[in-house]
Amino acid sequence: MGGFTISRVGHVGVQVTDMDRSLDFYCNKLGLTLTGRWPRGEMGDMAFIRFGEMHHDIVLFTHPDHPQSDNRKIGYNALQHIAMEIDSRDEWLKALYDLKQKGVEIVSGPLVHGAEGDPRNIGGSGTRSFYFEDPDGNSLELYCDMMRVPNGEPFPRPEYADVWTL
Ligand SMILES: [Fe+2]
Repeated sequence: MGGFTISRVGHVGVQVTDMDRSLDFYCNKLGLTLTGRWPRGEMGDMAFIRFGEMHHDIVLFTHPDHPQSDNRKIGYNALQHIAMEIDSRDEWLKALYDLKQKGVEIVSGPLVHGAEGDPRNIGGSGTRSFYFEDPDGNSLELYCDMMRVPNGEPFPRPEYADVWTL
């Protein structure tokens, strides 16, 4: 236990190689809003983008030393993936349909992270998820239905932890 409580992950900084291309993807395909874009001189470009009212949820940065190469080719992308939550299954299915219509390749899923999807995966959170990539190959996930684990309770709960061995 720390001496303070952190509320949530606030925003994620993403390295991109072509700001115009990435803003088109995040704003026109994923529906984020551009709060502002600022040049940082020799440090490249930065842009704040948001889902709702927060000033920013994602910040895009261009890399001063690698202005033209895709992250996936040069391997400096340290992000494993960024997951973004959608409030309902209905909205999540809309997102899946909408992105497919826009030609976004779904790399993995749709799937359920839990025993509902794969019986061996009792430890999963129950999210419905699918995965795709931004123009630089950063792995993105859209999900809904993550279960709660309140007040330090164990997970999986003892009442059903052995369900697949019965
Ligand atoms: Fe995830």
